[in-house]
Amino acid sequence: MSRALLSLGLVVTTLFATPSAHAETPAEILASIKSSAAGELGFQGFSAARGENFFKVKHGGEWSCSSCHTDNPAAQGKHAKTEKIIKPIAPAANPERFTDPAKVEKWFKRNCKDVLERECTAQEKGDVMTYLMGVGSK
Ligand code: HEC
Repeated sequence: MSRALLSLGLVVTTLFATPSAHAETPAEILASIKSSAAGELGFQGFSAARGENFFKVKHGGEWSCSSCHTDNPAAQGKHAKTEKIIKPIAPAANPERFTDPAKVEKWFKRNCKDVLERECTAQEKGDVMTYLMGVGSK
């Protein structure tokens, strides 16, 4: 790769990695997660099937993602503890989803800690997003 291409790549990565309040599309947010995942060992792309499994199973704790978002991401969810209604998490059912990078980042952080007792990797976030973006859009 040429030096110019490399520095262009760096600029693009930096732009995508900068948290911002402006609206983006789910595809743009996924692209940003992908540029982080590309730096993780053995990255070979995202998988909706892996994301679905990740979303539905427990990870050693009390909750899975579907404990609050339900097994059907196109359906309305309910907080497992507070019982507050949660709007559908799939963009096909709720166009507000995955349009605010800061919100996505904030909730991935909080929810992953609740479910996994650690932050999700970029691979896990990308897999889940790929799954959620495919729900109801076929
Ligand atoms: C204890 C309940 C709970 C669990 C478990 C949970 N979530 Fe959430 N999640 C919420 C709430 C509450 C919100 C914020 C309210 C809203 O956006 O409707 C939210 C919002 C989100 C958002 C923000 C999306 C957007 O753009 O609006 C993402 C992404 C998300 N959750 C992913 C996950 C993933 C992945 C898991 C599993 C690792 C998970 N959640 C587990 C309750 C939960």
